[in-house]
Order: sequence, then C-alpha cells, then structure tokens
Amino acid sequence: MQNRNNINRIDALRADTTLPAEDLRALLLSMTQEDEEYLYRNAREVREQYYGKDVYLRGLIEFSSYCRNDCYYCGIRRSNEKAQRYHLTKAQILECTDTGYALGFRTFVLQSGEDLSYSTEEICDIVRAIRAQHPDCAVTLSIGEKTRAEYEAYYDAGAQRYLLRQETSNPGHYGKLHPPELSIENRKRCLQDLKEIGYQVGCGIMVGSPWQTPDNVIEDLCYMKALQPQMIGIGPFIHHKDTPFRNMPDGTLTDTIHLLGILRLMFPDVLLPATTALGTIHPLGREKGILAGANVVMPNLSPKGVRAKYMLYDGKICTGDEAAECRRCMERRIESTGYHVVVSRGDHPNFR
Ligand code: 5AD
Ligand code: FES
Repeated sequence: MQNRNNINRIDALRADTTLPAEDLRALLLSMTQEDEEYLYRNAREVREQYYGKDVYLRGLIEFSSYCRNDCYYCGIRRSNEKAQRYHLTKAQILECTDTGYALGFRTFVLQSGEDLSYSTEEICDIVRAIRAQHPDCAVTLSIGEKTRAEYEAYYDAGAQRYLLRQETSNPGHYGKLHPPELSIENRKRCLQDLKEIGYQVGCGIMVGSPWQTPDNVIEDLCYMKALQPQMIGIGPFIHHKDTPFRNMPDGTLTDTIHLLGILRLMFPDVLLPATTALGTIHPLGREKGILAGANVVMPNLSPKGVRAKYMLYDGKICTGDEAAECRRCMERRIESTGYHVVVSRGDHPNFR
C-alpha cells in the first residue's frame, strides 16, 4: 500500500525544493517501497531536466595517506599505527593525470589526509603543473581544513573546486565523531571561506554514522540549504577494524539512496556522486545511486601500488584494479543503468 501522505510530501518537495522539518522526518522514517520508487522516479526526472542522461567522471588521486587528524571513524587517522603510510611525488601525481587524461577524465580530484609535509607552495605548484599540462581539465582539492589564505593561494594556482564534508552539522554529534581539537565551527568557517573565494564547493555527510539521528540529518539538510553547495557527497558509514568505531553498525544502502533521492529534489542542479562507499556496501550500490538521482562517479586513478593503503574503511572496493580497468568497469556499470559517462569537465551549471 502506498502511503498517500508521503506521495504528497514528495510532490511538495519537488515543487518547492523544501519541506517543513516534520514532513522531512516522516519521509526519512516511513517510506514504503512504493514511496521509494516514486521518489526515485521524480529524482531521475529532475536530474534529467538539468543533465539529461550524462554522468560525469572524476579521476580520484589519493596522493597521501598521512593525516594529522584523529577522526574516530577514519582508517587513516593518526593513531592507527597499522595504517600503511605513503605520499606521492609531484612527478607521480602528474603520471596519474596523464594516464587519466588518455582515459577521458577531464576532472582530477586530489585527495589526501591532512599531510603537513606538503607546503602550501608545493600544493600550488602541483595544481599549476596539472592545469598547464591539461588546460581543458578541472582540478578539485580535497585536503581538509586550511586557513583562508591557503584556500586563496590554491584558487589562484588554478584549483576551482574543493570538497570538504561537514560530516555532521550538529555540534554535539560532531563531538562524538571527532576529537576535541576539531570543531564544527571551524569546519563551517572553512566551507564559508571556500564559497566566498569562488570555489565550486562540495560538502556532505556519512549516512548512518554512529549516533546519527533523523534530526541530525534534517539539520544537515537545513545547513546545506543555507550554504548552497555545488556538490554534495554522501556515502554510508562503514566501520574500520583498527578504529574506535570498529564495533559500530554500518550505514545502509537503503538509507543512503533514500537520502540521495531527497537531495536531488531539494538541490535540483547539484552535482551528486554515487560514491565508492556506496559501491562497497552493495555490489550494485553505485548503479542504484545513479537510479536515485546521482549524476557523478569518481573512479580511482591512484597508482595500483598504493590503493590498498588508502583504507578509510574496511572492504573498500577498486583497490586491486588498474586505472584503465576501473574506467572500463565504470562505463559498463553506468551503461547498465541507461545513463552514459561523458568526456567533460562537468562543471556546475552556474559555473559554465
Ligand atoms: N566510512 C565511510 N566514509 C568514511 N569517510 C572517512 N571514514 C569513513 C568511514 N569509516 C569519508 C568521510 C570523509 C571522506 C573522505 O571519506 O566522510 O570526508
Ligand atoms: Fe584524517 Fe579524519 S583521520 S581526516
């Protein structure tokens, strides 16, 4: 049986891109299978208004597994002595981007732990080198919390996009996921600085992180409405055996694609990836994400030899494949959904 109220709520969410908190709570807590199918159909229609059948590719280069932080959920936290550490040189990173370019990538995402061994100038130098070698490509940074002056320097060097998930907007919940030296205030300050500098900004959360409540998720939706990010990255929390959260339950496929559908209706033109974590909790997770309104995928371009060392959570997929295999595999997976990957920078519509 369809829950009429939820159908009405989905219609209202699509029409207004917003809903009162109590209706969002109902959508998060009481969706039948029919409601979900209705949500995903609407989410696909909205994404096709803005992006047609196109799926954008981002080549992810995990260039360092060193991290000064100690987030309780993360496998590369500094206290994890079992984590294998590596960092790539500029030359190695440029090899990745050359390989990626030949495979049709036009966006490179440089991601790492907060590794202080790269100076601001070194990061800028790497960004400038990629932009010079591949002027038709975008460079996205995902390297954590920095000062405004550092964000300005990266931007001036040619980085045009930045990913920094807030993880949770709620200060109390944030404090349960992070050690005391990290704060949601600073995380929000970073996101605000990035927006003001002119980056295309990505924020996001883990779905089903320990102690997350529906009200936390609603607070995140409100925060994101105010921030107006160009990208929203979400994936299920997945435990890592060598972290304090080793015994915590993982987030679910259902909750994640459910939230993807809601995000697509609330943020009609947002860039929304079907993430590696989603592909890790279910063999067809990314395909289901695309069919729930996602329009971006981020195959791994890191050198094969270091892949398994960037273990944020247990069971991470794609750690044994060459970049070319990952790219072909992704193409097949997307084709199976009726969408197709395109060779494009894939900027947000407001930044074209
Ligand atoms: N499970 C799922 N996602 C995780 N991340 C970090 N650790 C985990 C985990 N155990 C996510 C965080 C971070 C992004 C790079 O990876 O949301 O922002
Ligand atoms: Fe590195 Fe959290 S442990 S960002």
